[in-house]
Amino acid sequence: MNVEFRPVQHSELEPFRAAARREHSGIDPLPSIRWFAAVSGTDILGCIGLLHASRDRVRVRGWYVRPDHRGQGLGMWLQECANDWARDHGYRHIESTTRLWRVLERHGWSVLRPYTEAIGTKMTLDLADREGR
Ligand SMILES: CC(C)(COP(=O)(O)OP(=O)(O)OC[C@H]1O[C@@H](n2cnc3c(N)ncnc32)[C@H](O)[C@@H]1OP(=O)(O)O)[C@@H](O)C(=O)NCCC(=O)NCCS
Repeated sequence: MNVEFRPVQHSELEPFRAAARREHSGIDPLPSIRWFAAVSGTDILGCIGLLHASRDRVRVRGWYVRPDHRGQGLGMWLQECANDWARDHGYRHIESTTRLWRVLERHGWSVLRPYTEAIGTKMTLDLADREGR
């Protein structure tokens, strides 16, 4: 399957919004979030949003893969593509507040603030450290 990572409008993700929310992933229509999707032909398989937090820091929002495409590496591929996009655009750190902190920790992220039920775990990844990997 040929899958492309490309910018999308929030309106293209609207069909997944309710399902994502039920799984604690917020595909929210905030103007400050840039949205990207894993796309096969005209089919959107998953998405990730990046929210500008400061000059060198960007935050992940709405990390979501359609249930019928999970468990095949697409989720981590979206994260890696988002990291590359952020690094290429001058960001040095990427952050995420997530319930799946163990997953991100296995992929090199560090805990910034421990888990709370309301918020999850705040994680960070130093993008400069990973340059050239
Ligand atoms: C999280 C999500 C995007 C992962 O997508 P995916 O395509 O299945 O991910 P991958 O196949 O790349 O797997 C990535 C890793 O996540 C782990 N993983 C995926 N879903 C998981 C879950 N619900 N619980 C624990 N681990 C999970 C996999 O075991 C894998 O671990 P590894 O890389 O150490 O082997 C997808 O499960 C999803 O959309 N979930 C619902 C929304 C959600 O929870 N988003 C995160 C909000 S904080």
